[in-house]
Amino acid sequence: MSEFKVSETVNSKLKTVDWNNLRFGVYFSDHVFITKYKDGKWDEGNIVPYGSMPMEPGLCTLHYGQTIFEGLKAFRAVNGGANIFRPDKNAHRLNNSAAMVCIPPYDEDKLVSAMKQLVKVDKQWIPQHKGQSLYLRPVMFGSSNFLGVTASSEYMLIVMTSPVASYYAEGLNPIKILVETERVRAVTGGLGMAKTAGNYAASLLAGQKAHQKGYSQVLWIDGVNRKYVDEVGAMNIMFVINDELITPSLDRGAILAGVTRDSVLTLGREFGMKVTERDITLLEVLDAHKNGVLQEVFGTGTAAVISPVGMLHHSGKDYEINGMKIGPVAQKFYDTITGMQYGEIPDTRAWIQHIDF
Ligand SMILES: Cc1ncc(COP(=O)(O)O)c(C=O)c1O
Repeated sequence: MSEFKVSETVNSKLKTVDWNNLRFGVYFSDHVFITKYKDGKWDEGNIVPYGSMPMEPGLCTLHYGQTIFEGLKAFRAVNGGANIFRPDKNAHRLNNSAAMVCIPPYDEDKLVSAMKQLVKVDKQWIPQHKGQSLYLRPVMFGSSNFLGVTASSEYMLIVMTSPVASYYAEGLNPIKILVETERVRAVTGGLGMAKTAGNYAASLLAGQKAHQKGYSQVLWIDGVNRKYVDEVGAMNIMFVINDELITPSLDRGAILAGVTRDSVLTLGREFGMKVTERDITLLEVLDAHKNGVLQEVFGTGTAAVISPVGMLHHSGKDYEINGMKIGPVAQKFYDTITGMQYGEIPDTRAWIQHIDF
């Protein structure tokens, strides 16, 4: 495990945190990991106090959006220390996203080591209660100053952390989702598989409109055929139809390869469920609802792990799912994954990276 140099803060903000009202992404912990890329290589990387950074108006990323990020969590383990859930997957996905927007890769093992050391340095920032966690946000962006559509020659990779509660105000209560039929998020051959800022910018207007109508997020329909289900704003989507777990496949290249998605599919197979990754049309989902065989719908993502969908709204009609209650399949995945994350259930798949302190 690499050991990065640490400059400790002399001005901790720990006392400013309202631990009973954490919400999501409001507080930033005292330290960040920073490494810079220049002259064709990444520097040694340091852990330094969180703070403002000098920036010029010509910062290329502001203009051309050459930026990618990740999101993962560290949990206070019941028997001491902390657990990070599958950080190797996030480090790998970061490099996949990097390749799609011409950002040079960063050594994945080194990034995992940096994240573990950062969590240890800010261990007091890991919340105490189940359902809460320390969110890790690596962000990587072009840091040269110039105008012109070309890749930056310099980059920064920063990992910040933030103590968080549930992403959705609803917690594990089912959310209502609006099927977006006008706008699209991604197309085959585009950047849908990259965790890059532009995808989230593209989702803002539809998300805002959905919020105004009382829905938590939108369900994206594919941008080419305008009929296949893609994903939700910040989650992959799963359907239980006739006891089969079905989720859109990654093959069209339009959705994010979620770490939670992969974990749920793996567990589903282990539980003996029929698990299928394939294109699924919205029509098929609505037909399954009509025929009474749409048992459950839920989103999967780091922020909420499992987020049951209690209602889909499409073309002026509400489709209620499982009586607006969490279903047994969603509950079992939630219990299993969160059990592993907090160290209550043994990790038999090497998904947990433990940090001793
Ligand atoms: C667009 C999008 N899809 C899916 C996901 C779920 O991915 P993961 O399970 O790795 O958090 C996220 C969250 O990161 C997301 O932003």
